[in-house]
Amino acid sequence: MFKRLQQKWGISGAQFWVIFVAFGLTGITTAFITRYITGWIGLTKETFWLWKVLLRITMLVFGYQVVLLSYGALLGQWAFFWKYEKLLLQKLGMMPSEKTESSFKTVNMAIFASGAGSNAANIIRYFKNRPDTKIGLIVCNKPEAGVLGIADKNGVPTLLIEKDRFAKGDAYLPELQKTGIDFVVLAGFLWKVPAALIAGYPNKIINIHPALLPKYGGKGMYGSKVHEAVIAAGEKESGITIHFVNEHYDEGATIFQASCSIDHADTPETLAAKIHDLEYAHFPKQIDELLAKHVGK
Ligand code: GAR
Repeated sequence: MFKRLQQKWGISGAQFWVIFVAFGLTGITTAFITRYITGWIGLTKETFWLWKVLLRITMLVFGYQVVLLSYGALLGQWAFFWKYEKLLLQKLGMMPSEKTESSFKTVNMAIFASGAGSNAANIIRYFKNRPDTKIGLIVCNKPEAGVLGIADKNGVPTLLIEKDRFAKGDAYLPELQKTGIDFVVLAGFLWKVPAALIAGYPNKIINIHPALLPKYGGKGMYGSKVHEAVIAAGEKESGITIHFVNEHYDEGATIFQASCSIDHADTPETLAAKIHDLEYAHFPKQIDELLAKHVGK
Protein backbone atom coordinates (compact mmCIF):
# COMPACT_ATOMS: atom_id res chain seq x y z
CA MET A 1 0.00 0.00 0.00
CA PHE A 2 2.84 2.42 0.92
CA LYS A 3 4.60 1.62 -2.34
CA ARG A 4 1.43 2.30 -4.33
CA LEU A 5 0.95 5.68 -2.64
CA GLN A 6 4.59 6.47 -3.29
CA GLN A 7 4.19 5.67 -6.99
CA LYS A 8 0.91 7.55 -7.21
CA TRP A 9 2.36 10.69 -5.63
CA GLY A 10 5.63 10.36 -7.55
CA ILE A 11 7.85 10.67 -4.43
CA SER A 12 10.87 8.86 -3.03
CA GLY A 13 10.76 6.49 -0.03
CA ALA A 14 12.45 9.03 2.26
CA GLN A 15 10.05 11.77 1.16
CA PHE A 16 7.12 9.46 1.88
CA TRP A 17 8.17 9.08 5.52
CA VAL A 18 8.77 12.83 5.96
CA ILE A 19 5.24 13.44 4.62
CA PHE A 20 3.89 10.76 6.93
CA VAL A 21 5.54 12.49 9.91
CA ALA A 22 4.13 15.88 8.80
CA PHE A 23 0.59 14.43 8.81
CA GLY A 24 1.15 12.93 12.27
CA LEU A 25 2.55 16.14 13.76
CA THR A 26 -0.30 18.11 12.21
CA GLY A 27 -2.90 15.86 13.86
CA ILE A 28 -1.29 16.22 17.30
CA THR A 29 -0.75 19.99 16.95
CA THR A 30 -4.30 20.65 15.72
CA ALA A 31 -5.77 18.68 18.64
CA PHE A 32 -3.58 20.68 21.05
CA ILE A 33 -4.54 24.06 19.51
CA THR A 34 -8.24 23.13 19.52
CA ARG A 35 -8.04 22.30 23.23
CA TYR A 36 -6.19 25.56 23.91
CA ILE A 37 -8.79 27.64 22.00
CA THR A 38 -11.63 25.80 23.77
CA GLY A 39 -10.24 26.95 27.14
CA TRP A 40 -9.33 30.41 25.88
CA ILE A 41 -12.82 31.29 24.64
CA GLY A 42 -14.33 29.69 27.73
CA LEU A 43 -16.15 26.65 26.30
CA THR A 44 -16.99 24.19 29.08
CA LYS A 45 -18.91 20.93 29.49
CA GLU A 46 -22.07 22.99 29.94
CA THR A 47 -21.64 24.99 26.72
CA PHE A 48 -24.26 24.29 24.02
CA TRP A 49 -22.84 21.33 21.95
CA LEU A 50 -23.28 23.12 18.61
CA TRP A 51 -20.60 25.73 19.45
CA LYS A 52 -18.10 22.98 20.23
CA VAL A 53 -18.91 21.13 17.00
CA LEU A 54 -18.55 24.37 15.01
CA LEU A 55 -15.14 25.01 16.58
CA ARG A 56 -13.97 21.49 15.69
CA ILE A 57 -15.19 21.80 12.08
CA THR A 58 -13.49 25.19 11.70
CA MET A 59 -10.26 23.77 13.07
CA LEU A 60 -10.47 20.76 10.77
CA VAL A 61 -11.31 22.70 7.63
CA PHE A 62 -8.97 25.66 8.12
CA GLY A 63 -6.65 25.18 11.11
CA TYR A 64 -5.54 21.67 10.11
CA GLN A 65 -4.68 22.79 6.58
CA VAL A 66 -2.65 25.80 7.78
CA VAL A 67 -0.75 23.66 10.29
CA LEU A 68 -0.15 21.00 7.62
CA LEU A 69 1.29 23.56 5.21
CA SER A 70 3.49 24.96 7.98
CA TYR A 71 4.92 21.55 8.88
CA GLY A 72 5.26 20.78 5.16
CA ALA A 73 7.32 23.94 4.66
CA LEU A 74 9.39 23.31 7.81
CA LEU A 75 10.20 19.77 6.69
CA GLY A 76 11.13 20.91 3.17
CA GLN A 77 7.99 19.55 1.53
CA TRP A 78 6.19 22.77 0.64
CA ALA A 79 5.73 21.80 -3.03
CA PHE A 80 4.08 18.50 -2.16
CA PHE A 81 1.73 19.92 0.46
CA TRP A 82 0.79 22.96 -1.59
CA LYS A 83 -0.17 20.65 -4.43
CA TYR A 84 -2.20 18.58 -1.96
CA GLU A 85 -3.95 21.69 -0.60
CA LYS A 86 -4.73 22.98 -4.08
CA LEU A 87 -6.34 19.67 -5.00
CA LEU A 88 -8.43 19.78 -1.82
CA LEU A 89 -9.55 23.35 -2.48
CA GLN A 90 -10.42 22.40 -6.06
CA LYS A 91 -12.48 19.45 -4.83
CA LEU A 92 -14.31 21.75 -2.40
CA GLY A 93 -15.00 24.09 -5.33
CA MET A 94 -12.97 26.87 -3.69
CA MET A 95 -10.37 27.00 -6.46
CA PRO A 96 -10.63 26.47 -10.25
CA SER A 97 -9.23 23.12 -11.47
CA GLU A 98 -5.93 23.00 -13.30
CA LYS A 99 -5.24 20.33 -15.84
CA THR A 100 -1.61 20.21 -14.78
CA GLU A 101 -2.07 18.27 -11.54
CA SER A 102 -0.94 15.11 -13.30
CA SER A 103 0.56 13.30 -10.32
CA PHE A 104 -2.91 13.07 -8.74
CA LYS A 105 -4.71 12.47 -12.00
CA THR A 106 -7.28 9.70 -12.30
CA VAL A 107 -6.54 7.39 -15.20
CA ASN A 108 -9.67 6.69 -17.18
CA MET A 109 -9.39 3.24 -18.72
CA ALA A 110 -11.45 1.58 -21.45
CA ILE A 111 -11.65 -2.21 -21.61
CA PHE A 112 -12.24 -3.72 -25.03
CA ALA A 113 -13.75 -7.21 -24.79
CA SER A 114 -15.96 -9.39 -26.95
CA GLY A 115 -16.44 -12.53 -24.86
CA ALA A 116 -17.57 -13.69 -21.45
CA GLY A 117 -15.66 -10.84 -19.86
CA SER A 118 -14.24 -12.64 -16.83
CA ASN A 119 -11.00 -10.65 -17.17
CA ALA A 120 -12.95 -7.41 -17.48
CA ALA A 121 -14.87 -8.33 -14.31
CA ASN A 122 -11.62 -9.08 -12.49
CA ILE A 123 -10.07 -5.76 -13.56
CA ILE A 124 -13.18 -3.84 -12.50
CA ARG A 125 -13.08 -5.60 -9.11
CA TYR A 126 -9.37 -4.84 -8.63
CA PHE A 127 -9.71 -1.11 -9.33
CA LYS A 128 -12.98 -0.65 -7.44
CA ASN A 129 -12.58 2.03 -4.73
CA ARG A 130 -9.33 3.24 -6.30
CA PRO A 131 -9.56 7.01 -6.73
CA ASP A 132 -6.59 7.01 -9.11
CA THR A 133 -8.03 4.61 -11.70
CA LYS A 134 -11.46 4.47 -13.24
CA ILE A 135 -12.95 1.98 -15.71
CA GLY A 136 -14.79 4.54 -17.79
CA LEU A 137 -15.99 2.42 -20.71
CA ILE A 138 -16.44 -1.14 -21.94
CA VAL A 139 -16.11 -1.40 -25.70
CA CYS A 140 -17.60 -4.48 -27.35
CA ASN A 141 -18.41 -5.68 -30.85
CA LYS A 142 -20.93 -8.41 -29.99
CA PRO A 143 -24.40 -7.46 -28.74
CA GLU A 144 -24.75 -10.90 -27.07
CA ALA A 145 -21.36 -10.87 -25.26
CA GLY A 146 -21.38 -11.64 -21.54
CA VAL A 147 -19.13 -8.66 -20.87
CA LEU A 148 -22.04 -6.29 -21.54
CA GLY A 149 -23.96 -7.78 -18.58
CA ILE A 150 -20.84 -7.36 -16.42
CA ALA A 151 -20.59 -3.70 -17.44
CA ASP A 152 -24.25 -3.18 -16.66
CA LYS A 153 -23.95 -4.84 -13.23
CA ASN A 154 -21.00 -2.60 -12.36
CA GLY A 155 -22.49 0.58 -13.77
CA VAL A 156 -19.80 0.95 -16.44
CA PRO A 157 -21.00 2.64 -19.68
CA THR A 158 -20.71 0.56 -22.85
CA LEU A 159 -20.00 1.27 -26.49
CA LEU A 160 -21.09 -1.25 -29.10
CA ILE A 161 -18.91 -0.93 -32.17
CA GLU A 162 -19.32 -1.95 -35.78
CA LYS A 163 -16.52 -3.38 -37.94
CA ASP A 164 -16.32 -0.97 -40.89
CA ARG A 165 -16.17 2.19 -38.84
CA PHE A 166 -13.68 0.62 -36.40
CA ALA A 167 -11.34 -0.89 -38.98
CA LYS A 168 -11.59 1.58 -41.86
CA GLY A 169 -13.02 4.74 -40.30
CA ASP A 170 -12.16 6.82 -37.25
CA ALA A 171 -11.88 3.75 -34.93
CA TYR A 172 -14.45 5.46 -32.65
CA LEU A 173 -11.77 7.87 -31.45
CA PRO A 174 -14.27 10.74 -31.04
CA GLU A 175 -16.34 8.64 -28.59
CA LEU A 176 -13.26 7.52 -26.65
CA GLN A 177 -11.94 11.06 -26.41
CA LYS A 178 -15.34 12.45 -25.44
CA THR A 179 -15.45 9.93 -22.58
CA GLY A 180 -11.96 11.10 -21.53
CA ILE A 181 -10.35 7.69 -22.05
CA ASP A 182 -6.58 7.80 -21.65
CA PHE A 183 -5.64 4.11 -21.55
CA VAL A 184 -6.98 1.06 -23.40
CA VAL A 185 -6.89 -2.56 -22.24
CA LEU A 186 -7.84 -5.42 -24.56
CA ALA A 187 -9.19 -8.33 -22.54
CA GLY A 188 -10.48 -10.95 -24.94
CA PHE A 189 -10.97 -8.55 -27.85
CA LEU A 190 -10.48 -10.31 -31.17
CA TRP A 191 -10.45 -7.67 -33.89
CA LYS A 192 -7.21 -6.24 -35.19
CA VAL A 193 -6.54 -2.81 -33.74
CA PRO A 194 -6.48 -0.24 -36.56
CA ALA A 195 -3.74 2.37 -37.10
CA ALA A 196 -6.18 5.18 -36.25
CA LEU A 197 -6.62 3.87 -32.70
CA ILE A 198 -2.90 3.24 -32.21
CA ALA A 199 -2.15 6.78 -33.39
CA GLY A 200 -4.71 8.13 -30.91
CA TYR A 201 -3.24 6.12 -28.01
CA PRO A 202 0.49 5.64 -28.65
CA ASN A 203 1.93 3.12 -26.15
CA LYS A 204 -1.33 3.25 -24.26
CA ILE A 205 -3.01 0.13 -25.60
CA ILE A 206 -2.17 -3.25 -24.13
CA ASN A 207 -3.46 -6.76 -24.76
CA ILE A 208 -3.44 -10.09 -22.98
CA HIS A 209 -2.80 -13.20 -25.04
CA PRO A 210 -3.40 -16.72 -23.64
CA ALA A 211 -0.05 -18.21 -24.73
CA LEU A 212 3.66 -17.54 -24.52
CA LEU A 213 4.19 -15.28 -27.53
CA PRO A 214 5.71 -15.31 -30.09
CA LYS A 215 4.39 -18.87 -30.18
CA TYR A 216 0.70 -19.42 -30.86
CA GLY A 217 -0.13 -15.84 -31.77
CA GLY A 218 -1.40 -14.10 -34.87
CA LYS A 219 -4.66 -13.94 -36.79
CA GLY A 220 -7.19 -16.60 -35.81
CA MET A 221 -5.28 -17.48 -32.63
CA TYR A 222 -7.66 -16.65 -29.83
CA GLY A 223 -9.38 -18.30 -26.87
CA SER A 224 -9.82 -22.06 -27.13
CA LYS A 225 -8.15 -22.20 -30.56
CA VAL A 226 -4.86 -21.28 -28.86
CA HIS A 227 -5.21 -23.99 -26.22
CA GLU A 228 -6.18 -26.62 -28.80
CA ALA A 229 -3.06 -25.79 -30.85
CA VAL A 230 -0.81 -25.87 -27.79
CA ILE A 231 -2.13 -29.30 -26.67
CA ALA A 232 -1.99 -30.70 -30.22
CA ALA A 233 1.66 -29.67 -30.48
CA GLY A 234 2.47 -31.61 -27.28
CA GLU A 235 3.85 -28.55 -25.47
CA LYS A 236 5.00 -29.05 -21.89
CA GLU A 237 4.15 -25.49 -20.88
CA SER A 238 1.98 -22.56 -21.85
CA GLY A 239 1.18 -19.23 -20.24
CA ILE A 240 0.11 -15.65 -20.73
CA THR A 241 1.68 -12.67 -22.46
CA ILE A 242 0.77 -9.07 -21.70
CA HIS A 243 2.06 -6.79 -24.44
CA PHE A 244 1.73 -3.39 -26.06
CA VAL A 245 -0.44 -3.38 -29.14
CA ASN A 246 0.90 -2.45 -32.54
CA GLU A 247 -0.63 -2.80 -35.99
CA HIS A 248 0.19 -6.51 -36.23
CA TYR A 249 -1.67 -9.20 -34.32
CA ASP A 250 0.17 -10.11 -31.08
CA GLU A 251 3.49 -8.54 -32.11
CA GLY A 252 3.88 -5.49 -29.85
CA ALA A 253 6.61 -5.35 -27.20
CA THR A 254 6.18 -7.78 -24.33
CA ILE A 255 5.46 -6.32 -20.90
CA PHE A 256 5.08 -9.51 -18.89
CA GLN A 257 4.84 -13.29 -19.22
CA ALA A 258 3.92 -16.03 -16.76
CA SER A 259 3.83 -19.74 -17.46
CA CYS A 260 2.14 -22.92 -16.28
CA SER A 261 2.99 -26.54 -16.91
CA ILE A 262 0.94 -28.88 -19.05
CA ASP A 263 0.63 -32.54 -18.13
CA HIS A 264 -0.55 -35.44 -20.23
CA ALA A 265 -4.07 -35.34 -18.74
CA ASP A 266 -4.64 -31.71 -19.74
CA THR A 267 -7.29 -30.86 -22.32
CA PRO A 268 -7.93 -27.48 -24.00
CA GLU A 269 -10.56 -26.88 -21.29
CA THR A 270 -8.30 -27.63 -18.30
CA LEU A 271 -5.53 -25.59 -19.89
CA ALA A 272 -7.96 -22.70 -20.42
CA ALA A 273 -8.75 -22.80 -16.68
CA LYS A 274 -5.03 -22.70 -15.77
CA ILE A 275 -4.51 -19.77 -18.14
CA HIS A 276 -7.50 -17.90 -16.74
CA ASP A 277 -6.05 -18.32 -13.23
CA LEU A 278 -2.76 -16.79 -14.41
CA GLU A 279 -4.66 -13.95 -16.07
CA TYR A 280 -6.68 -13.16 -12.94
CA ALA A 281 -3.55 -13.22 -10.77
CA HIS A 282 -1.40 -10.99 -12.98
CA PHE A 283 -3.33 -8.84 -15.42
CA PRO A 284 -4.76 -6.17 -13.06
CA LYS A 285 -1.45 -5.94 -11.16
CA GLN A 286 0.50 -5.47 -14.37
CA ILE A 287 -1.92 -2.77 -15.53
CA ASP A 288 -1.53 -1.05 -12.17
CA GLU A 289 2.27 -1.10 -12.33
CA LEU A 290 2.31 0.07 -15.92
CA LEU A 291 -0.01 2.98 -15.21
CA ALA A 292 2.12 4.03 -12.25
CA LYS A 293 5.25 3.98 -14.41
CA HIS A 294 4.10 5.39 -17.72
CA VAL A 295 0.83 7.23 -17.45
CA GLY A 296 1.88 9.33 -14.46
CA LYS A 297 -0.98 8.84 -12.01
C1 GAR B 1 -8.76 -14.65 -22.36
O1 GAR B 1 -8.20 -15.89 -22.03
C2 GAR B 1 -7.79 -13.86 -23.21
O2 GAR B 1 -6.46 -14.13 -22.95
C3 GAR B 1 -8.16 -14.30 -24.58
O3 GAR B 1 -9.57 -14.40 -24.56
C4 GAR B 1 -9.96 -14.81 -23.25
C5 GAR B 1 -11.13 -13.95 -22.83
O4 GAR B 1 -11.72 -14.45 -21.67
N1 GAR B 1 -7.70 -13.38 -25.58
C6 GAR B 1 -7.29 -13.76 -26.80
O5 GAR B 1 -7.33 -14.91 -27.17
C7 GAR B 1 -6.75 -12.62 -27.66
N2 GAR B 1 -6.05 -13.16 -28.79
P1 GAR B 1 -12.74 -13.56 -20.82
O6 GAR B 1 -13.76 -13.00 -21.81
O7 GAR B 1 -13.35 -14.50 -19.84
O8 GAR B 1 -11.96 -12.47 -20.17
